[in-house]
Amino acid sequence: MAAPRCIENLEKMKKECVKVDGYHTNSSIEQEKVEAKIGEIFEKFATSSMKIPKLQRDKHLAYLNKGLKNLSESYQCLDASRPWLCYWILHSLELLGEKISEEHASQVAQFIGKCQHPEGGFAGGPGQYAHLAPTYAAVLALATIGTKEAYEVVNREKLASFLMRMRSPDGGFLMHEGGEIDVRGAYCAAVAARLTNIATTEMFEGTPEWIASCQTYEGGFAGIPGMEAHGGYTFCAVAALVLMGHDRLCDTEALIRWLSNRQMRFEGGFQGRTNKHVDGCYSLWQGGVFPLIHKILNSYGDNAVSTKCWMFDQNALQEYILICCQSLNGGLIDKPGKVPDYYHTCYCLSGLSVAQHFASGNLATTSVLGDPSNELVPVHPVYNIGVECAFQASKHYSTLPVPSL
Ligand code: FPP
Ligand code: ZN
Repeated sequence: MAAPRCIENLEKMKKECVKVDGYHTNSSIEQEKVEAKIGEIFEKFATSSMKIPKLQRDKHLAYLNKGLKNLSESYQCLDASRPWLCYWILHSLELLGEKISEEHASQVAQFIGKCQHPEGGFAGGPGQYAHLAPTYAAVLALATIGTKEAYEVVNREKLASFLMRMRSPDGGFLMHEGGEIDVRGAYCAAVAARLTNIATTEMFEGTPEWIASCQTYEGGFAGIPGMEAHGGYTFCAVAALVLMGHDRLCDTEALIRWLSNRQMRFEGGFQGRTNKHVDGCYSLWQGGVFPLIHKILNSYGDNAVSTKCWMFDQNALQEYILICCQSLNGGLIDKPGKVPDYYHTCYCLSGLSVAQHFASGNLATTSVLGDPSNELVPVHPVYNIGVECAFQASKHYSTLPVPSL
């Protein structure tokens, strides 16, 4: 087992800090502070008796189980994102190998049912308007629950009609009626439609080309054409292209160049965009794009594609998550100094799973940093739910006919 970089050679690591070219900006000043804080944490870890990074599984489970039953007042601001909270918590539990009770499974499925709009799609809470983001989260949460009751919550005919209403003539998708169009919409729609087996050719006509037009000069994808490349949108864009079988529209070489430069050389985690700061959630939004790239390169029959690992420093990412992103009382965080939340817990754990598991073609290997008990359940690269959950949900919905509109 490889020792963490901070134990082997912290001084050498420090040489990898971002070089400021003599002109300080708010971002460069903040970057120095982030590096100093992370340097302290690595140093503390390297000089402690710990030596082996350990996932605080029990603490995270307690934090997640608590959230499944009751949320504190600080979650009021997410009143329009309630299916997201279900997804973040259920998916995190799934990654940790924890099964929820039948009673909880049924309660959550019924609650998500109350968020379904009578005219199709899911809203952020009961009685609210349908929106593509909670629709995506609801479908994934129900697939993660994985019971017949949960699968049957989805009104597939109405969902298809909602997705068709969100479609814009150029192939993009509105997030909600009268709302903004961006790459999240196309991805959320593609996931909801493909997983529940309601996708039709006309639903996604022009969508792959619209998504491809969001790839920027840097190589990553922006939310809409002409804007700044960002990890969140890049994951949505590449996953949607892969899902729709149109990944050849992506300039893969430019994407690899941009993406591999988003891993911070000192911190080990990823930043969301050029010249910004490391954040645990990008472990999935950026790290999760590598499995998709492998899939694309494999389909090209590219001999240069590695058969042993993803194209980023998997150990460095695991170190960042395990040493810098675990909150003492459970839950995971953006970066040291921040408080835990269910979003960061979900995406830190998802990224950790990606970094641990390599599965390309017929090859599947694991590379778990630290204690072997750190190993998580592998995730499906497009849906970001457990591989088995994705398989079972697809199997269930594939027996049902595609609704005709
Ligand atoms: C910038 O935040 C964040 C964005 C511009 C959008 C992020 C998009 C996602 C995370 C994808 C969402 C996916 C779905 C499926 C709905 P910031 O300026 O606070 O952070 P930064 O400094 O790290 O860029
Ligand atoms: Zn974040």
